[in-house]
Amino acid sequence: MTIIANKCPDYKVTVVDISAERIDAWNSDKLPIFEPGLLERVLSVRGKNLFFSTEIDLGIDEADIIFVSVNTPTKMFGEGAGKAVDLQFIEQTARRIKNNSKSNKIVVEKSTLPVRAAEALATILHSGDNSVEFEILSNPEFMAEGTGVSDMENPDRILIGSRDTASGLAARDVLMDIYLHWVPKERLITTNLWSSELSKLVANAVLAQRISSINTIASLCEATEADVTEVSRAIGMDSRIGSKFLNAGPGFGGSCFRKDILNLVYLCEYYQLNEVAAFWEQVVSINDYQMERYVKRILQAMFNTLVGKKLAVFGFAFKPDTGDTRDAPAIYICKRLLEEKACLKITDPYALDNARKDLQLNEGKKEFIEDPYEAVEGVHAIALITEWSSYKKLDYQKIFEKMEKPAFIFDGRNCLDHQALYKIGFNVYPVGKPELSHL
Ligand code: UGA
Repeated sequence: MTIIANKCPDYKVTVVDISAERIDAWNSDKLPIFEPGLLERVLSVRGKNLFFSTEIDLGIDEADIIFVSVNTPTKMFGEGAGKAVDLQFIEQTARRIKNNSKSNKIVVEKSTLPVRAAEALATILHSGDNSVEFEILSNPEFMAEGTGVSDMENPDRILIGSRDTASGLAARDVLMDIYLHWVPKERLITTNLWSSELSKLVANAVLAQRISSINTIASLCEATEADVTEVSRAIGMDSRIGSKFLNAGPGFGGSCFRKDILNLVYLCEYYQLNEVAAFWEQVVSINDYQMERYVKRILQAMFNTLVGKKLAVFGFAFKPDTGDTRDAPAIYICKRLLEEKACLKITDPYALDNARKDLQLNEGKKEFIEDPYEAVEGVHAIALITEWSSYKKLDYQKIFEKMEKPAFIFDGRNCLDHQALYKIGFNVYPVGKPELSHL
């Protein structure tokens, strides 16, 4: 919405939310999320054509177009528990829109929704004796965290799904007019509603599937003398494959991949496509396996016991340039390390508050330390889980001197100079490459 307000001065954008605390933060200089470039863009339009408010009913009443961007977590109870999407927030929102609309509206699904959710939305909106007309569009979001601003300003594509009726196509054109303020026409794709909804799930499933694929090959590389970075490069130069999303790591995280794949799995099971469901579920299983493999490698390298050993954890966010830790591999990995009775000194430039909450119920010794040099004081090993660029620039000679010997480093992202670390004296364990060990 911030980018729309920046690019379309002729539109008034009002963001409403039930959380007063969150709206207050959006109205302050400390935004509730960290996203490079966002604050400047908020400041340039806030109070002009971008407003943040808790007056939801008024916001609905005033709007011609409503983007529904409420959360759609995995349902944790009853039918479909653990896989299906919990639609309660969508349904509550639909009812609120219906009850507060006095004029016709275009309702845009921005939240990631199961296929055919538009139908349910339309049914709720058109129920009862309200004479107001609602046209529903699907406009899934493909931006990634950390690069949200540039993804939004320069998107690969904008996808708009609509009904193939006169009013459906007219509504689609209204939404297209907004994006045409800055997105070239050839990057706007239009489809029917169901294709649009399904494309969102499939985009995330295919991206995650690439990561799980390369992570399986990483395990094979560790067993042989192959190097997964070399394999990724060699296959990625085939233009049919492409080079992105082939970095092996400790597993993918974030609020979307697991949730969206499980949603796809549930959908397939619903239509009794059990083999198809099993195929996609395997992408998630491999991710779980990859996180556990990272822990096992630490354990094996450190003489099969971590009891009382100190480990510095470098990075807790699910990826760099965000403070978000939702479904971060670091959560699983740290819990496992604590189970093995390791003492953790966790450092991260932006995610320590979230890390504290994520691990609050876990027993064991854990400290949260902002300065990585302080975090490595007296530790036996470093487990690098998030590839913050600042970690590449640290003085590893100085770090080595502060650590217990033998000193181990488990570079879960293959982002450090392994030969240089080895020369300093570290025992280096990358992902999908032979270890460099002095032992
Ligand atoms: C993902 C998609 O990339 C976006 O297109 C989508 O809009 C978004 O989900 C969403 O549905 O909202 P995001 O979760 O922000 O975006 O982050 P990604 O850049 O996709 O990274 C996800 C995870 O995969 C991270 O943990 C990252 O470290 C990991 N990853 C990524 C790898 O392990 N290897 C890679 O080569 C790439």
